[in-house]
Amino acid sequence: MIVRQLQVGGMGNYSYIVAAEKGGPCVVIDPGWDVPVLLEELKKGGFTLAAVLLTHGHYDHSQAVPELLQAAPAPLYYDRNDAGLLGFEAVDARPFEGDFTADLGFASARFIHTPGHTAGSCCIQLGNNLFTGDTLFLDACGRTDLPGSDTKAMYRSLLRLAAMDGGLEVWPGHAYSEQAHLPMADVAANNPCIKAARRGEDDFLFMMGF
Ligand SMILES: [Fe+2]
Repeated sequence: MIVRQLQVGGMGNYSYIVAAEKGGPCVVIDPGWDVPVLLEELKKGGFTLAAVLLTHGHYDHSQAVPELLQAAPAPLYYDRNDAGLLGFEAVDARPFEGDFTADLGFASARFIHTPGHTAGSCCIQLGNNLFTGDTLFLDACGRTDLPGSDTKAMYRSLLRLAAMDGGLEVWPGHAYSEQAHLPMADVAANNPCIKAARRGEDDFLFMMGF
């Protein structure tokens, strides 16, 4: 898989372009900002947009969807629990609920439901890559003090992610760390939120300020 990690906007967001090969179909994950930058990258790689995938509905991950889909029409996949957070309606919306696999032709996108930051937060697996949005950062996890957040759900989601294949490459939703991506084995061993979750629910809630 080819992964293009693009830092966009003023909040350190990452948007991603993922494809099996140059000149082929691709997905865009979390287009929150800078559509011209995304379109330029698509053009450079000769990529055609097969779908847009959202890790969750917050505006900094999704507000550029209408502009992107106007330039390159494609289906939009998101968990319906976050539908109320989206400030637009997509022409070809493909809402799902919970764990879900989308067959995109060139690849399967596996959505792993990881609520906590929002009710509809997902991590998206494409090949050996796991796009973790605002659920799991390399050195932290997403906030759970926002409307729709659930700290106990985040606790369970982090344990679920930490139990996944250590060889998966973790690609977070924000540039909050020195490294841009890391294997799950490294994240699971060192991430303070995962470490607290492994000590138990009480330790995790305490660390998160609850
Ligand atoms: Fe978020």
